Amino acid sequence: MQPPDRYAVFGHPIGHSKSPRIHALFAEQTGEQLSYTAQDVPPETFETCVRDFFAQGGKGLNCTVPLKELAWRIADYRSERAEHSKAVNTLALRPDGMIYGDNTDGIGLIRDLTVNLKLSLNNRRILLLGAGGASRGIIGPLLEQRPSHLTIANRTPEKAAQLAEEFCDLGPISGCGFFDLGTESFDLILNATAASLAGELPNLPKNILRPRGCCYDLAYGMEPTPFVRWGEEAGADISVDGIGMLVEQAAEAFFIWRGMRPETRPVIDVLNRERRGSR
Ligand code: ATR
Repeated sequence: MQPPDRYAVFGHPIGHSKSPRIHALFAEQTGEQLSYTAQDVPPETFETCVRDFFAQGGKGLNCTVPLKELAWRIADYRSERAEHSKAVNTLALRPDGMIYGDNTDGIGLIRDLTVNLKLSLNNRRILLLGAGGASRGIIGPLLEQRPSHLTIANRTPEKAAQLAEEFCDLGPISGCGFFDLGTESFDLILNATAASLAGELPNLPKNILRPRGCCYDLAYGMEPTPFVRWGEEAGADISVDGIGMLVEQAAEAFFIWRGMRPETRPVIDVLNRERRGSR
């Protein structure tokens, strides 16, 4: 019998990654034979580790913080969406030995927002907090949904303005600092800053969330993040973390590697049950 195909996620740190659990559930559901592990890989050894992994028969990799830009560079060729975001979270070894790079974060977020949470983004005012790699990967897919406007706000305002400039040919977008937000209000506020990871929150006026507005934190944890709590206190209709996006981006990676798309709802339900159970 052939050994199962090997996959892994590389990140630094990687300790609490849920990706091995998600892909094990996908494999169980689809009957695919595969193994999926998590490996702590610092940026300095990333290229060697990727080349070794594929040389030893590995079939595909996910790359997470802080390796997505390096993964973009190592890919021999890339999807259009990865090209635009300049970040890659999925690598696949093709039969000709070439390494293909894709970015499934944007589609993962859009599926969670529009399919799982049933939100329409068309003609809505969206606020995106943060101007780092996580924001870069989702701006194109967000603008594709044709919001009336996308505002990027960042602690360092110049970075928000620069990012808006880079994507301005895709739709109505602008960049500013948190302090410039005063008078505007939004239907959807997305948190893509690294603040949640440190248990922190950008200082935001609560009236920037419109009545019936929604809050979405790209980060996730065992407990509601500070931003999810902020959304609840601001009266959001929906205020959730990024566990759904995590499962959706993984499903898209699974599709790239295996040619089949697992059902995501049961997997999201399992993960939610498991974190409720451990509280
Ligand atoms: P990632 O690739 O995960 O997006 P990054 O490129 O380091 O990581 O970007 C982190 C983002 O979180 C940036 O927008 C950063 O703001 P600055 O550009 O001003 O550094 C933001 N960020 C990090 N810690 C923050 C905090 N405590 N409050 C507000 N924003 C924060």
